[in-house]
Amino acid sequence: MDLQALLATHAGEQHDLFAATVNPQLVRVLKTIGFDKEYTRAQGQYLFDACGHRYLDFLSGYGVFNMGRNHPRIKAAIAQALELDLPNMVQMDAPLPAGLLAKRLLAILPPAIDRVFFTNSGTEANEAAIKFSRCATRRSRICYFTHAFHGLTNGSLSVNGNAEFRDGFEPLLPGCVGIPLGDLDALERELRQKDVAALIVEPIQGKGVYLPPDGFFAAAQEICRRYGTLLVLDEVQTGLGRTGRWFGFEHWGLTPDIVTIAKALSGGLIPVGACCYSATVYERVYSSMERCVVHSNTFGRNTLAMVAGLAALDVLEEEGLAANAAARGMELLDGLRAMQQQYELIEEVRGIGCMIGIEFGRPRSLKLRAGWELIHTVNRALFGQLIVVPLMTDHRILTQVAGHNVIVKLLPPLVITPEDVRYFLSAFETVVAACHEFPGAAWDVGKGLAKRAMTA
Ligand SMILES: Cc1ncc(COP(=O)(O)O)c(C=O)c1O
Repeated sequence: MDLQALLATHAGEQHDLFAATVNPQLVRVLKTIGFDKEYTRAQGQYLFDACGHRYLDFLSGYGVFNMGRNHPRIKAAIAQALELDLPNMVQMDAPLPAGLLAKRLLAILPPAIDRVFFTNSGTEANEAAIKFSRCATRRSRICYFTHAFHGLTNGSLSVNGNAEFRDGFEPLLPGCVGIPLGDLDALERELRQKDVAALIVEPIQGKGVYLPPDGFFAAAQEICRRYGTLLVLDEVQTGLGRTGRWFGFEHWGLTPDIVTIAKALSGGLIPVGACCYSATVYERVYSSMERCVVHSNTFGRNTLAMVAGLAALDVLEEEGLAANAAARGMELLDGLRAMQQQYELIEEVRGIGCMIGIEFGRPRSLKLRAGWELIHTVNRALFGQLIVVPLMTDHRILTQVAGHNVIVKLLPPLVITPEDVRYFLSAFETVVAACHEFPGAAWDVGKGLAKRAMTA
């Protein structure tokens, strides 16, 4: 197959083809918000289209490209693995690359975590965490937090605190209970019953970039220990440098029983995930030779993912990407907080490292409030598009609206430079400033979007 020729022959067909064969609703959304670009190349924090336009990617494939896209060292490691004709997925064997990657992961995790189960995705890592917790504790229930996102397969969906994802798929796992983030009394009420296997937590919630009040995580961990509930930290998005440390839980000094990882673990080149857990849990799940594959999969430990994982961890460490995430994140937060003082539509700026949420809120001035109300009567989330759409169309920056209120989320690759930060802040301020003129062209974007959505 000549891939280059194949892609060239079909250039320009991608949206029609995808709509006809994969997901026409997604294509409608892309066309409505002007995200129907034809990217042809990607490098680091940038995407390029056929005309050679460069786009700054502050979405990172939902947090996959911590090391930037197509990192040469990770690509080279994968190419070398292919070149060596390695014996991949023999299944009845103990592959060396899996052991090497597991050892690297365990070295950066708390000492109580000493086993790794490899998966193909974040949701599959959380499925493993749910099964392992239930098996190890002989309890059936799982607690999670409202707004939580742990994936969309049945088990993970059962602990997903976003009703819109569950709609149409219930009933899910029985006994799973969502607790308001920050409500220790509600947590203790559930755990006191001593039938909760695990509490599953994102250190920073991806949907909306929510953080708990000070002291909450430490107290929640203490309640878990008191009632024999395992603490599962979902680091699928926050892990591997994203928040300026290896893992998000390090900011609160937590000692989880289980840690799930995915997304950036292979540098975005091969699907991968990992459920990291204690030997005690292992002994209860894999309790005999008959049960040696009682929870297993076909592709989880595949050589290419393991090799990419080893190279990705090298890159993260040797290029100091966690430190860069902390420094660039601070520049972004400082710049955005300065804008918050000036622009009344910005209600809150929050986040750690390169995981940032900008929440917009109902303005005080009458004129702007009229625009806000108008947009909100059409759709509650529409205002966010007034930011995200011009960032893309006028400045070629990819961002996303994330969460229930109007929240624009920034999730850039950890390789961004001070210059990228300056470019983003300047573009963002131009867009936000335009939204403070009502009536005005910025608000017309909303009307245009609503009209296009209705015709689509
Ligand atoms: C915190 C968290 N957990 C789990 C998942 C699910 O991962 P995947 O999409 O690889 O199944 C995601 C995906 O966005 C996530 O952000």
